Amino acid sequence: MAVERTLSIIKPDAVAKNVIGKIYTRFEDAGLKIIASKLVQLSQADAEGFYAVHKARPFFADLVKFMVSGPVVIQVLEGENAVLKHRDLLGATNPKEAAAGTIRADFADSIDANAVHGSDSAENAANEIAYFFASSNVYSR
Ligand code: PPS
Repeated sequence: MAVERTLSIIKPDAVAKNVIGKIYTRFEDAGLKIIASKLVQLSQADAEGFYAVHKARPFFADLVKFMVSGPVVIQVLEGENAVLKHRDLLGATNPKEAAAGTIRADFADSIDANAVHGSDSAENAANEIAYFFASSNVYSR
């Protein structure tokens, strides 16, 4: 199985709940390595640019507003099958539909305040990683 990288964002709701460490433990226990990490307050422009693919969706303004409502923790995770493995750890986008034991079932409240973002493909992951991190700030062996 291929070693991949994926972009993960612990959203303002989970940062406010003080569960950053609990979420990091789930990544590490699943064999994902944290190879870049930063806690930041996104600007409106940062969030609008990141979610530009959803610009025409009815929830775009609410999603951006939520993502700038407090600090987020952004990380790059590396490991075998990292994109799918990370999304499996997260569970369904809507926490009401997320399987028991997933991060969203345990820590999320709603479809926008859903604890963690995860890239949905290796190709999108590469773009999302480059959006937030200079390559010199991503650890590589
Ligand atoms: S899709 O249709 O698969 O492209 O969209 P999806 O992956 O389900 O959702 C993309 C992101 O939009 C957020 N989202 C919403 N926010 C607010 N209100 C509503 N109704 C809503 N529906 C989806 C969802 O949390 C996803 O955020 P990220 O950060 O990508 O996980």
